Amino acid sequence: MNAWLRSFPASVPSDLSSPADIARFELDHTLPGEKVTLVDMPSLGEGYQIRRESDMWTVSGGSSGLLYGVYTLIQMLLSGEDVPDLFESSPEYSLRMLDSWDNMDGTVERGYSGRSLFFENGRFAYDPERIKTLGRMMASCGLNVLCINNVNVHEPAQRLLEDYLPEAAELADFFRPFGIRLMFSVDFSRPLYHGVSTADPLDPAVRDWWADTAKRVYSMIPDLAGFLVKADSEGRPGPFTYGRNHADGANMLADALSPYGGFVVWRCFVYNCRQDWRDTTTDRPKAAWEHYAFLDGSFRDNVILQVKHGPFDFQVREPVSPLLLGMKRTKLAMELQLAQEYTGHQIDIYTMIPMWKELFEDLPAGNIMSVAAVSNLGRDLNYTGHPFAAVNLYTYGLLAWNHAVDTRTAVCRWIRLTYDFSAEDEQKLADLLLSSRRVYEQYTAPLGIGWMVNPHDHYGPNPSGYEYDLWGTYHKADRNAVGIDRTSSGTGYLCQYSDSYRRKYEDPDLCPDLYLLFYHRLPYTFRMKDGRTLIQRIYDDHFEGYEKAVRMAETIACLPFPEEDRAEIEQRMKKQLYNAKEWCDIINTFFHRLSGIDDEYGRRIYP
Ligand code: GCU
Repeated sequence: MNAWLRSFPASVPSDLSSPADIARFELDHTLPGEKVTLVDMPSLGEGYQIRRESDMWTVSGGSSGLLYGVYTLIQMLLSGEDVPDLFESSPEYSLRMLDSWDNMDGTVERGYSGRSLFFENGRFAYDPERIKTLGRMMASCGLNVLCINNVNVHEPAQRLLEDYLPEAAELADFFRPFGIRLMFSVDFSRPLYHGVSTADPLDPAVRDWWADTAKRVYSMIPDLAGFLVKADSEGRPGPFTYGRNHADGANMLADALSPYGGFVVWRCFVYNCRQDWRDTTTDRPKAAWEHYAFLDGSFRDNVILQVKHGPFDFQVREPVSPLLLGMKRTKLAMELQLAQEYTGHQIDIYTMIPMWKELFEDLPAGNIMSVAAVSNLGRDLNYTGHPFAAVNLYTYGLLAWNHAVDTRTAVCRWIRLTYDFSAEDEQKLADLLLSSRRVYEQYTAPLGIGWMVNPHDHYGPNPSGYEYDLWGTYHKADRNAVGIDRTSSGTGYLCQYSDSYRRKYEDPDLCPDLYLLFYHRLPYTFRMKDGRTLIQRIYDDHFEGYEKAVRMAETIACLPFPEEDRAEIEQRMKKQLYNAKEWCDIINTFFHRLSGIDDEYGRRIYP
């Protein structure tokens, strides 16, 4: 199966060695009737120009630019879009990254599409045809960097740059013709396993060890994009052990990679994951800013700080991270998560592009230089578990190319490439996909509250599951009120933003409802802007969310999906309905028991 590339021939020949070769091949096989000339124009780099004169097309670009231009032309024509006589495009972000959280034992951390596409039984194990299809999928939506291993680097992935380097280099060869460079997650403490007595980033022996390692790695994979690092986070080793800060750590690695043009992509997911729930002085969303903001301007040029889009951890709704707004003198990547960890495990339908567009609305142009997303791929035949989860990978690529992409156009193009639908059915599916995030939000965790989820697994409701735990994710609901006050008179989290941003959220009467319980602790009797009480709004959202999920199931039943997708979609929809009902009933009962306030409409809330 070729995901959305259904009109493409099954296999790409193995002797094609450059993006320009692949471009020619794809053209010849998908648009055999079109006259298309490819013009090598290295100055355009990854950008391209498509020009039409009568019935002739000319696509110009550097080698990768030709491939992106050709994929765009093919997809626009296959999906019946108008292609202007002159269409030029170049990527807004130079690194458009996909981060796999694959372990070498074949499992995928937070993976919902089967086992790893790259590893099994502690070694590299892949089907070359599927790897080429993955290369095609990524290039066809503009992605150019793939990190193949989990940010939590366990044995034997710790030896990826050592014992497994030849196999890693072979895998890189498969991706290179698609304009894709590999990246590896590395273990900061690795020198300790090689007779160096410390991993202190300022120790000359440590610096030498990493310099030698980089030299060896780049001799085998000269175009490696770099190293991805999770340090001092959720038990991973890092510079804090040696009393050093994260600029010390990242810059040391950056020096090792700079002779080869490699990047250190340093994740900022650092917080106290052993918090005592009784401690009211620590507020987890403040952590990243506290660890990194003072280091702004002190990172090497080839360091990119990779910041999760929100201050918590990929919840259904979070404000944009203050680091992404405030670190003006540091290269930044925004990290998204295609894997539906908190957003339905690729069982529930959850189309992400509307959420990403909101994030970009809050991000001034030029603040970030790169985007990364945790992959949602696995060995399932359709690559993404739920066939609709592919729309997230596809539209992520388009957005990483240019965040101004039109949401509906992107989703409709994916539908047209994937299904052979009438215009009416296409619109029905587009509406369903585009509303799916809000529906999920309504039946799970509306109003910015987040986290009422089953611990560890993160699927299904458990309103107190994280309440007395170590992870700093509390809502503190009692019989009168719910939420945490994060304003300047509360934990002060809001003070990490500019005054103008702060003003929008500081006053509960003005704060947009969608973020209300993220920023405020409010009594259930609080009057919302529309006149409803907070408790009524909680009930309404959960009931409405569930009802909308029922209507989604009805729509799906009427759409003409091909057989192989229908079975998957319907089976998952059943599970989604069960999940939505559980969320609705459990959360409503939870708040009803606490508050003792009845639903105004007398709908069924279980005692
Ligand atoms: C979440 C997720 C972990 C992951 C971590 C990360 O906490 O649950 O599985 O390792 O994010 O982003 O590093």
